[in-house]
Parts: sequence; C-alpha cells; structure tokens
Amino acid sequence: MSRLLVLISCFQVVLAEPYAVISGYLGDNVTLPSRADRSWHLSKIEWSVFTNNTWIATYRNGKTNIERISQFKGRLSLNITSGDLMIHGLTKEDCMEYTVDLINTEKTSTVNKLRLQVKEHLQKPTITTLFSTPEKGGCWMGLHCSSPDRGVNFSWQVIPDTRAAFSMWDPSGNHGVFLAFLNTTSKLNFTCTSSRTMESTSSTVTPQCNAGDKPEPQLDCRDRCGLCFLLGGVIMGTCIIIVYIFREEIKAAWKYLSDKFCPSTIPS
Ligand SMILES: *[C@@H]1O[C@H](CO)[C@@H](O)[C@H](O)[C@H]1NC(C)=O
Ligand SMILES: *[C@@H]1O[C@H](CO)[C@@H](O)[C@H](O)[C@H]1NC(C)=O
Ligand SMILES: *[C@@H]1O[C@H](CO)[C@@H](O)[C@H](O)[C@H]1NC(C)=O
Ligand SMILES: *[C@@H]1O[C@H](CO)[C@@H](O)[C@H](O)[C@H]1NC(C)=O
Ligand SMILES: *[C@@H]1O[C@H](CO)[C@@H](O)[C@H](O)[C@H]1NC(C)=O
Ligand SMILES: *[C@@H]1O[C@H](CO)[C@@H](O)[C@H](O)[C@H]1NC(C)=O
Repeated sequence: MSRLLVLISCFQVVLAEPYAVISGYLGDNVTLPSRADRSWHLSKIEWSVFTNNTWIATYRNGKTNIERISQFKGRLSLNITSGDLMIHGLTKEDCMEYTVDLINTEKTSTVNKLRLQVKEHLQKPTITTLFSTPEKGGCWMGLHCSSPDRGVNFSWQVIPDTRAAFSMWDPSGNHGVFLAFLNTTSKLNFTCTSSRTMESTSSTVTPQCNAGDKPEPQLDCRDRCGLCFLLGGVIMGTCIIIVYIFREEIKAAWKYLSDKFCPSTIPS
C-alpha cells in the first residue's frame, strides 16, 4: 500500500512541477544530466535524493564516492567532467526527484533538480486461435490477442490481406478478437500489434486451417465482462462476415423475392 502511494505521489508531482523530467525503462541505464555549464571546471559534484538531501554520489577534492547508499550500490557512475550521473539497471524505486549541487574551480555554484520517471517496456501480445474451420474452399478463422499491458491500442495485420475480416477490441484496453473468412486454406501470417505513444510491439502467428485443431481458448475468465464482450464480438463479426461472403446470393435472393411478390414495383 505505501509503495503504491509513493509511486502515485511520484507521478502526481511530475505533472505539478516544472522540473526537467527524464525517462528511463525498467532494467535499462539512464543518464541524469547535471546541466552544468560546459565551460565550467567542476571541483565539487553532489547528487542527492529525498527531502533530507541524502547524498548518493559525490566528487570532492578529486575523490569520487558512488557507494553511499544501498539502494544504488554498484549501479552508479559519475562523469566528473560533465557532472552527469548514470544509473544502471533502473528499478521502480529509482523513480524520484534528484538534486545536483555543482561548484566550479572559480567557486561559483549552481543547483539543478530533475525528476526521473521509470517506464516499463511493452510486453509482446499473446495470440491464441479460437477456432479454424475449412469451409467452401476457404477457412473460417477466429483469433484472440491479449496484452499484459493496460491502456494500449491494438491492430491486426494479415499478410496477404483479406477483405472478409472483422475485429473488435475490449474498451478496457488489453484484449480483442479477430474473425476472418479466408478465401484460401494456405497459411497466412496474422500479426497483432499493441502500441502506445512512441512504442509498439507485436507477435505473429501462422495458424493452419484445420477443423481438428481447436485448442481451448485461454481467456482470462476473471474478466467476465471481457468474456461477454468477446462472445458478443464473435457473434456480431460472424454475422457481418456471413453477409459479406454471401452478398451475391443475398442480392439474388432479394431480387427473386422482389420479382415474385412485388413485380410491379421493381422494373425488370
Ligand atoms: C548498462 O550499463 C552497463 C554497465 O556499464 C553495461 O554493461 C550495459 O551494456 C548497459 N546497458 C545498456 C542497455 O546500455
Ligand atoms: C532521509 O530520508 C530517507 C527517506 O525518507 C530515509 O530513508 C533516510 O533514513 C533519511 N536519512 C537521514 C539521514 O535522516
Ligand atoms: C564525460 O562527459 C564528457 C562531456 O560530456 C564526455 O566527453 C566524456 O566522454 C564523458 N566520459 C565518460 C567516461 O562517459
Ligand atoms: C482472395 O481474395 C483476394 C481479395 O478479395 C483476391 O485478390 C485473391 O485472388 C483471392 N484468392 C483466391 C485464392 O481466390
Ligand atoms: C510469414 O512469417 C514468416 C516468419 O516470420 C516469414 O518467413 C514469411 O515470409 C511470412 N509470410 C508472408 C506471406 O509474409
Ligand atoms: C489509441 O488510439 C487513439 C485513436 O487513434 C488515440 O487517441 C489514443 O491516444 C491512443 N492511445 C494510446 C495509448 O496510444
């Protein structure tokens, strides 16, 4: 609970304060710029965190100390020319405000603050085959795509392209279905891409059209609402695709019925 509150307050302050914001990804390295004047010859660099200004990395009298607190042990490097601090292997706890006190050889000093945001990379979406059934020289295919990430946008891509397709995404934002009638039984590549600002990741499957091959859909049944949504999507998509496939037959049947029962209203 307290961890959650720390993270929330951390992000709230990001919006409220005009500090420089640096972002890094969990597990990656990030460089915190000191923003020292490039003409300065630094004689003292002090990076600190928390409101009580706990030092984490210092350079004084020609000596560097980057092993000051356990949270950052073995994960820091300090560039004594630029004053920049690099943090290796970012953790969620590193998401906070950093202060750097700089003094140059002319005894001029400056203080800069910045806030570090720690983001997580998108994880690859998971594709499962709901069903695949050969039919009339083609194939019915139903796929499900889900992402462990919340609030992402999804898209499907089929190569080669297919026109009789329908897709629907759960508005809660982490899964969706794709239904298609393929006019071929040969293998196609289905790619599901999840994306958010500046980042996207995708998975591709090449399912075989095979009536005997019906793996149980691995749906997250804790999410009842999502399941109803998916079933609704499957039924609606099937109707749309049936209408698409049989559009010529429907037109012919409509014409036949019109001619038969209302011959006067339809010019032949
Ligand atoms: C992060 O820094 C470490 C130590 O300098 C290095 O071995 C590693 O390759 C760096 N990782 C990335 C993603 O740059
Ligand atoms: C400074 O604050 C941090 C977090 O609030 C705390 O863990 C640490 O013990 C404090 N250090 C001192 C010297 O009071
Ligand atoms: C330190 O920063 C200076 C100036 O930005 C740069 O030229 C130098 O390569 C950096 N040193 C290291 C070890 O990264
Ligand atoms: C399948 O449909 C596409 C587009 O409607 C068409 O270009 C392609 O030739 C068709 N393939 C077969 C095997 O009928
Ligand atoms: C489908 O994906 C495989 C493996 O990624 C690739 O080798 C193949 O060229 C792709 N086929 C098409 C039609 O894009
Ligand atoms: C998802 O797409 C919509 C419409 O294109 C866009 O407004 C929204 O910002 C996107 N969301 C993310 C997380 O990328």
